[in-house]
Amino acid sequence: MLIENKEWHTIWLNKETQKIEVIDQTKLPHKFEVKVINNSFEAANAISQMVIRGAPLIGVMGAYGLMLGLRENPSSSNLEKTYETLLATRPTAVNLKWSLDRIFQKVKDLSQVDRLNAAMKEACIIEKEDIEMCSLIGDNGLKIIQEIYDRKIIKNEKKVINILTHCNAGWLATVNWGTALAPIYKAHRAGLNLHIWVDETRPRNQGASLTAFELKNEGIPHTVIVDNAGGHLMQHGLVDLVIVGSDRTTSQGDVCNKIGTYLKALAANDNDIPFYAALPISTLDWELEDGLSEIVIEARSEREVTHISGLNDSGNIETVKLVPQGTHGFNPGFDVTPNNLITGLITERGICKANKSEISKFYKKK
Ligand code: MRU
Repeated sequence: MLIENKEWHTIWLNKETQKIEVIDQTKLPHKFEVKVINNSFEAANAISQMVIRGAPLIGVMGAYGLMLGLRENPSSSNLEKTYETLLATRPTAVNLKWSLDRIFQKVKDLSQVDRLNAAMKEACIIEKEDIEMCSLIGDNGLKIIQEIYDRKIIKNEKKVINILTHCNAGWLATVNWGTALAPIYKAHRAGLNLHIWVDETRPRNQGASLTAFELKNEGIPHTVIVDNAGGHLMQHGLVDLVIVGSDRTTSQGDVCNKIGTYLKALAANDNDIPFYAALPISTLDWELEDGLSEIVIEARSEREVTHISGLNDSGNIETVKLVPQGTHGFNPGFDVTPNNLITGLITERGICKANKSEISKFYKKK
């Protein structure tokens, strides 16, 4: 997608150096920098420090990270050690395990000399598939937006559809296109008039920093709102549709996504507003059923709650403290939206209800 009219992906293999390059998301929206990932240690750090983030992108980075580990040492013991190190970086998004398993299975029975090339090939396939899946999620989600758009007639006014999204499930969370934002990009390109309500998404502000950055660069009208505003906007008819991403979706269709998603689903339900989660197959966890009791929620540093960063008037990035000395913060990274609050799942294979029988029409357990 576009940054200042130039096409970018979030991650790529530099064919000359054979190193991985990524857009450094800790610097956005104020600075654009590309970071080189030289080895598996740096790959693990890039995930845990959120240089790259978003479930699908974490998965692609994990695949390349394991490949880098095999370049350092192709032995089976190093393969296992690097797998475990990468897997431990962020526990909630299942895409990481999904892609690490793919590389692991591909190379484990090969001779040591063949492992690196096989891992590189598979990681490139995972990267390419992610783009294709997200593009298809966009095509499928466009049908929902189009249908709501066609129904909405505002007398004497230009027809605009208002979509609310939480966190960043745009192209910066994937390789390209995004999940929740892919239908929005497709709808914009199809000429529909859109306006996006962007939840700021405390504590790390992925909405205010990343989603707003994406939409601005794609020329899509949007407004950032505080996380608590969504319910009020819904009560006043200012939201036609909610689309969010997912970090892990259980076999019965419970969706684990950025903290605060559940409250948006509750408010949407109370106001009869369609609430969709958009996700690729790599986000589906067939092993789990009840999201609330079974999904491990990442606990992040309290500093993300007690402090906030932004650009000061001198143009420098500054971090300031929000709370009194001695006050602590608690920072669960994700929450679970039960399937009864979800209108449907937008996947690369089509749209389905958030329940086991509908999901299993699209995906078969291996
Ligand atoms: O903590 P983050 O920034 O990795 O969380 C990202 C989200 O919660 C996204 O909504 C989710 O990964 C879906 S991304 C396509």
